[in-house]
Amino acid sequence: MTAWRKLPSIILATALAALAGAPAHALDNGLARTPPMGWNSWNAFHCDVSARLVEATADAMVASGMQAAGYTYVNIDDCWLLKQRGPHGELVPDPAKFPQGIKAVADYVHRKGLKLGIYESAGTTTCAGYPGSLGHEKQDARQFARWGVDYLKYDNCGDHRGETYPQRYAAMRDALAAAGRPIVYSLCEWGNESPWDWAATVGNLWRTTQDITPRWRTDQPANHYPQGILDILDQQAALSHASRPGAWNDPDMLEVGNGYLNDDENRAHFSLWALLNAPLIAGNDLRSMSKDVRTILTNREVIAVDQDWGGRQGYRVQRDGDADVWAKPMSDGSVAVILLNRGRGPRHIATRAAAVGLKAASSYTVRDLWQHHNATSHGSIEADVPTHAVAMFRVWPGQRPAGGAASG
Ligand code: GLA
Repeated sequence: MTAWRKLPSIILATALAALAGAPAHALDNGLARTPPMGWNSWNAFHCDVSARLVEATADAMVASGMQAAGYTYVNIDDCWLLKQRGPHGELVPDPAKFPQGIKAVADYVHRKGLKLGIYESAGTTTCAGYPGSLGHEKQDARQFARWGVDYLKYDNCGDHRGETYPQRYAAMRDALAAAGRPIVYSLCEWGNESPWDWAATVGNLWRTTQDITPRWRTDQPANHYPQGILDILDQQAALSHASRPGAWNDPDMLEVGNGYLNDDENRAHFSLWALLNAPLIAGNDLRSMSKDVRTILTNREVIAVDQDWGGRQGYRVQRDGDADVWAKPMSDGSVAVILLNRGRGPRHIATRAAAVGLKAASSYTVRDLWQHHNATSHGSIEADVPTHAVAMFRVWPGQRPAGGAASG
């Protein structure tokens, strides 16, 4: 046996991870190897959740083509439960909202080939004042597993009883592992204690900011609610090093199709979240969305950027006033590029192949991921970008490889 093969596997794994430029460890539950895709009730419905809504949303996820495009999780957010635990300390789903309980909803969702998510908090209450899981982690995790839950979003509200962030979030991690069902574990502590520095061994994803709102920008300070699309984007610029398969930065759920965002802004938001390897968790009403919104959420070429792990999450290449250039290396040697016009009034935005990390070549194939057409370039990547919009490209040195790439 060679000396190399005698190395303990942990040292080998650490060395390989270091070579890959990634943190050495990630939560070892085998889940979320690509960023999770699905839907969550909060952004459009807040506390107005019910079995009927969740089941109709699952139907719409299938009928709209979202399931075929990769969306899987149907996630219930806050307010699904009663204000008091039951006689044995158990969480009780609100019978007015979930008359048959959560298991029946999970069965319905599973029959469609989809998965069910639920919400709790790592404090004494949820953010809407329902019972939290602190001190009840094992019991609650077992209950989620018995119900057939596949995804847990774990919030940060209520009293923390003096426990640290890593302690409270690790307690639920361990409880989920002991409950014996694969459950994606989504941390929601709003970036308060720099989860990108410690959460990779605790959860599959971690929120990096305060809550999103369907506005282009709010100009609130970073630690204030709410945050607009650009406010959140700017807080991601320094975090790309922390993200890796199984452990993702979460810049919050999508607002595509909600509030004050127009189609250009929706496309920009979706493109940027894909480039950031964000979980693509739709937050709109899938039952009544417009064709334009559906087309955005099911753009497979953009989704392919989100779901491809090329070694690094996308990062900002340059900022020039209202013109940003973002890039993400793809695993096939291409680079996804976003030209973002943050401001009012159209702008011509340009970059070069070398600046976005492409290897030198005599020509490049530039595929427009929204117009779905190819062009040839000798190194420049540029576009006239309308106000509050992006142009998004995938660029290959030389010819684009045959097959596959157009549809992901
Ligand atoms: C917090 C979270 C939101 C949502 C609400 C529910 O604000 O950050 O995403 O889950 O709680 O009350």
